[in-house]
Amino acid sequence: MGNSLLPKHIKHITVPPVKCQGIKTKLVNFIASSISWEGKGKWIEPFLGSGVTAFNILAPKALLADTNPHIINLYRQIQKREIDRNTVKEFLEFHGAKLEKGDGDYYYEIREQFNRTKDPLLFLFLNRASFNGLMRFNANGNFNVPYNHKPNRFSKAYISKICNQVSTLQNILMCVDWEFITAPWEHTIAQANANDFVYLDPPYIGRSSDYYNSWSYEDALKLSTQIHSLPCGYAMSMWLKNKFRTNEYIDNFRTKDEILTFNHFYHIGASETLRNSIVEALIIKPGYSNKQNFGNVKLYLQEEIALDNMWDKKSQNDLYSHRLHRFHR
Ligand SMILES: C[S@@+](CC[C@H](N)C(=O)[O-])C[C@H]1O[C@@H](n2cnc3c(N)ncnc32)[C@H](O)[C@@H]1O
Repeated sequence: MGNSLLPKHIKHITVPPVKCQGIKTKLVNFIASSISWEGKGKWIEPFLGSGVTAFNILAPKALLADTNPHIINLYRQIQKREIDRNTVKEFLEFHGAKLEKGDGDYYYEIREQFNRTKDPLLFLFLNRASFNGLMRFNANGNFNVPYNHKPNRFSKAYISKICNQVSTLQNILMCVDWEFITAPWEHTIAQANANDFVYLDPPYIGRSSDYYNSWSYEDALKLSTQIHSLPCGYAMSMWLKNKFRTNEYIDNFRTKDEILTFNHFYHIGASETLRNSIVEALIIKPGYSNKQNFGNVKLYLQEEIALDNMWDKKSQNDLYSHRLHRFHR
């Protein structure tokens, strides 16, 4: 393995300035420690979302894509230094203060302005004003998340956290050769060459009818067929099972790929009885999984618990039990 980029363990997770549904912040180490890749080609992500995986894998070259142009435009402007921590600070302080006075009325004014102008700073504002970065666009491609009142939403501490996230990303972007593109996944994976690695994190099947984020069983089936002809390594994230059911779509992969799983516990309320778990899976092309992880359960567990303490305050109530094992087929 020697100088390979992956597998690796990431001590300090870089948190991106954009939040989105299905963000993989808590699974980055599972992903980074499960893949084996030399890192000689490009890291390709056709479903970039917040970008948290790419921002922590830190491949020298990358092709990062999403159909959502607003995420891509914001990251491009940060890359070109048209947006930096100072512009973000000034913008969020100004509009945060106005939101505090104008409340819902001001939020809807900003939302309307964003839908007219598509300004990336307004996008960042809306993304960080809503609960957990809920992002939803209607059939016309207009942002339509309703107002969710939170007193002092853009507090000094919150603004400075966002500014730090912007400048951390900007510092990363100065040292790497990354391209951000707005594109459907078919276009992105067609750029893959033998030394590249493709990491895929498509939307959940049938979960939403969002303009940029709808995903049907047919889409998923087409993707599962096409990834098998990629000329390079790949890994694909998906949920495997929860308390109620197993994701039957996973059967499309069983015969060809290796599946690593990760048992993720989370709280949906204050009481222990409300604890739920979901088993996350990483489907990996044979030859690209980190075999050393198999059976190394104890070490993984200790490292992950230590990591828990560093994660966002919000997640400190969460309990994680991590189990990495080979799927016996
Ligand atoms: C589950 S999210 C990815 C989350 C990301 N891994 C993270 O940690 O933030 C799926 C992403 O795929 C994008 N997407 C949906 N349909 C797509 C398509 N047909 N082609 C490319 N991207 C698509 C969505 O806009 C969304 O950002």
